[in-house]
Amino acid sequence: MFSFGREIDATKNSHIVDNIVIKKKKQKSMKELRSQNWFGRKGKDGFIYRAWMKNQGIPDDAFRGKPVIGICNTWSELTPCNAHFRELAESVKRGVLEAGGFPLEFPVMSLGETLIKPTAMLYRNLMSMDTEESIRANPLDGVVLLAGCDKTTPATIMGACSVDIPTIVVSGGPMLTGKYRGKDVGTSDVWRWNEQNRLGEISDEEFRFAEGCMARSRGHCAVMGTASTMACMVESLGLSLPENAAIPAADSRRKVISQLSGRRIVDMVKEDLCLSDILTKETFENAIILNAAIGGSTNFVVHLLAIAGRIGVDLTLDDFDRVGSQIPLMANLQPSGKYFMEDFYYAGGLPAVIKQMDKDLHRDAITVNGKSIGDNCANAEIYNNEIIAQRDAPYQEASGIAVVYGNLCQNGAIIKPSAATAELMVHTGKALVFENIEDYHAKINDPSLEAEATDILVLKNVGPKGYPGMPEVGNMSVPKTLLEAGVTDMVRISDGRMSGTAFGTVFLHVSPESAAGGNLALVQNGDIIEVDVPNRSLNLKVSDEVLAERRKSWVPEDLGYDRGYVEMYIRDVEESHLGADLKFLKGKSGSEVTRDSH
Ligand code: FES
Repeated sequence: MFSFGREIDATKNSHIVDNIVIKKKKQKSMKELRSQNWFGRKGKDGFIYRAWMKNQGIPDDAFRGKPVIGICNTWSELTPCNAHFRELAESVKRGVLEAGGFPLEFPVMSLGETLIKPTAMLYRNLMSMDTEESIRANPLDGVVLLAGCDKTTPATIMGACSVDIPTIVVSGGPMLTGKYRGKDVGTSDVWRWNEQNRLGEISDEEFRFAEGCMARSRGHCAVMGTASTMACMVESLGLSLPENAAIPAADSRRKVISQLSGRRIVDMVKEDLCLSDILTKETFENAIILNAAIGGSTNFVVHLLAIAGRIGVDLTLDDFDRVGSQIPLMANLQPSGKYFMEDFYYAGGLPAVIKQMDKDLHRDAITVNGKSIGDNCANAEIYNNEIIAQRDAPYQEASGIAVVYGNLCQNGAIIKPSAATAELMVHTGKALVFENIEDYHAKINDPSLEAEATDILVLKNVGPKGYPGMPEVGNMSVPKTLLEAGVTDMVRISDGRMSGTAFGTVFLHVSPESAAGGNLALVQNGDIIEVDVPNRSLNLKVSDEVLAERRKSWVPEDLGYDRGYVEMYIRDVEESHLGADLKFLKGKSGSEVTRDSH
């Protein structure tokens, strides 16, 4: 197993860090800490800042002149995947104290994928605002982001990027593999059970029994869904210590890496190693390559674009295809493959994949421990070739996300070929249209719905503005009549997203979205649609003249939101090919607080 022992050396060995990072930046003196603008002041102001620390029972010397480390905690009982984060925060605190820092834990908004309605994605940008402003407004020199469930990772990183102080991420870790009647199961099985339940093959009672079998431990979804994809993204970008992505939440080594991260952030503050030092175009390309290699979620695209937009790296939708689409599949993990995150960790985890992809990656990209991603993983081994492949014997030759264009998606749409049916990659069929999610729910199980296996399901008004919030509904169920006839996959097209745990021949993130007047809004039942993934095209075989005629009578749906955050979101959210961030949140404001009321 890739050794934590070596990681401990790396976090303590300032010589290694000095060689790589400090030649660029001088070590920060304690006087230069931004927290000194609070705690280092003389007179009334300093008195107030310090006194209200002491009312928590903290002695003067506990924080005098020390780097103040914020522990940004997304703990919430409403975010079950992150419900163990108070324990992780304690481990981080231990590490911070050991390294001579002063830890202060603070909460930010948390987004639980399973409970939040209408969709957690609606609030990703709001959570990022909370994170950004909480970091900037407080006396913090460095931050540890505790993130797990899908949106909590991109939201906290987006917010932190807009401040850009030393930051390290600790992920919550996946659940242990589910065990159901002698079989290994995870979230991807929910989709299969659901279809079996619709066909009456498993009872409602059995469905309920399966719930506890699948979710049998703390942690986030146990497959390579969006949460695991985000954790791998974090490690690929160099924002966490090695091995962070896959250690199960219930494994004691999750606490170990939390403690080590607490130690490391204190040194990062002294080195002034900020997010913008780590996040370059090359590190984003590394993340794209590794996401393809592990068969990561399509949600990766919209989140990585949003993070790049905050830190100021010019990343486009085309980069995902250009850099990632020819990358081989190196991990045999659900939903693209067979195994679970727990298995992945025992097989060597992401460091083993990184080692195999050494020649594909920008191996010199720096990471939070001051070493390069290549050096961090130079000795990583594969312990199970069923789960992690050798570079010369991958599970699939090309695994990355494909970006298609055409008159149905002038700004692009995406598909994950490794989770799709190969025979449907080139396909022509009739559109079977659902005007919105309610229309879909009303019709999909209706025995009178006329549908053929070659039809193409089209779902409108589930984009960022249209739903609003771009929910994970793109992997529509096959109409019940066809399901009963044995059809398991069809081409599906929408401006929405798809759960990272889902699979199928699903075109997602159509841009411009239908609610913004994209041609998707003009598709009618029976229109012919032509899909050609090898040639990267997705076209509606309807003339421009007919589309122009249809547009004259098109009116956007009135969603009835006229106040509050959601009204602002609909007004200012960008299209998905740009990351679906709010326009005014792009970029960063830095860490300086220019006005001071004291
Ligand atoms: Fe939280 Fe899947 S529901 S990661």
